[in-house]
Amino acid sequence: MSIYAWSDIHVDFPQNLEIIQSVSSTDFRKDTLIVAGDVSDRLDRLKVALSSLRSSFEHVFFVPGNHDLWTRKEDFACSIEKHLHIQEMCAALGVRTEPAKITLENGDAAWIVPLLSWYSKPEEGADSLFVKKVGEDPSLKMWMDNYRIKWLSLLGQTPAEYFALQNEQYIIDYDAPVISFSHFLPNRDVIFPNEVPTGEIGPYENDPHPAFNFTRVAGTSKLQDQIARLGSKIHFYGHQHRNKIKPVGGVTYISHCMGYPGEDRYAETGDKLAPVKLPLSEGN
Ligand SMILES: [Fe+2]
Ligand SMILES: [Fe+2]
Repeated sequence: MSIYAWSDIHVDFPQNLEIIQSVSSTDFRKDTLIVAGDVSDRLDRLKVALSSLRSSFEHVFFVPGNHDLWTRKEDFACSIEKHLHIQEMCAALGVRTEPAKITLENGDAAWIVPLLSWYSKPEEGADSLFVKKVGEDPSLKMWMDNYRIKWLSLLGQTPAEYFALQNEQYIIDYDAPVISFSHFLPNRDVIFPNEVPTGEIGPYENDPHPAFNFTRVAGTSKLQDQIARLGSKIHFYGHQHRNKIKPVGGVTYISHCMGYPGEDRYAETGDKLAPVKLPLSEGN
């Protein structure tokens, strides 16, 4: 009865899918797994990966990441429509997308609360986590979401507002400690390895994408507001592919992404090719 978490398993890489499919079918039978998005933009691969994990763990929780909501001309016209389809698929697979209470190994309980989200770009609102970068391209020409994400039914809301509103029904008082999770980042503190810079960031040495500023698409402080109202002990997130454990203001923030093959930066949480066990004794 342990709780594990993993993010950004990106099973479009065959070696990542192989790792997912070789997760032990006996070691985790009584355990819970949180999957914090970026599995695949292909529904068939998302289904294969989630079913495989579902057969290894007693409970699997999931929120979609940006890659999971990419559309193609031949399938969904809108990313919201695709999200609704994914939620139905999860329900059919027994993958949880709503809060549930889990009994832990010491007999205590915890609530796992999935938080849907999207990033807020600087032009979309003050909830953006944007920090200006020297020499950046504000049009995000190289960011695939700009081509593959389609919002046709947001009714004037920003994507971050739309998803935050979906969570509101679950921001209540729970009768056990809360572990929340999201794909996107909830605050600037977790973006940077140390202090949040006060001025512009970059240029960085050996920066593979000097014109790309991740903080434009990192997350939203709307998540932070919901985490604070939940009183989460642990918040797990993905998206940045920088694995870390960072306590800030009474919350232990943890990110543990499998990421892309060859990425080996910021491995504070140990082997990224296996899920991380959440530190419940310290967290609770
Ligand atoms: Fe990712
Ligand atoms: Fe992502």
